[in-house]
Amino acid sequence: MRIIDHPILTFAPQRLVRFVFDGRELEGYEGEPIAAALHAAGVRALSHSHDLGRPRGFYCAIGNCSSCLMVVDGEPNVRVCVERLRDGMRVDTQSGRGTLPVEWPTAPA
Ligand code: FES
Repeated sequence: MRIIDHPILTFAPQRLVRFVFDGRELEGYEGEPIAAALHAAGVRALSHSHDLGRPRGFYCAIGNCSSCLMVVDGEPNVRVCVERLRDGMRVDTQSGRGTLPVEWPTAPA
């Protein structure tokens, strides 16, 4: 599901790369937003609401609304509408508010 022919815009050729989404291997174009690659692959639910678990998809698509938070290469709360796709990325649906991959330093006693 991509626009490949447009009456006004032209699309420069891009390199096709592979990434893994929730254990499924998918393809997308290097440098496009991760959400665009997922959308092209038919993935519409990018996250779920915290309280009711309702699916959330693209909303603002400019990194302002947090509707698209996912875990990317182990890092939670990544806005995939503005994060660019790279070869070999691992993208996972986030459950809840996400947990940090490392322990944060604690304040001195
Ligand atoms: S869709 Fe709004 S921050 Fe990504």
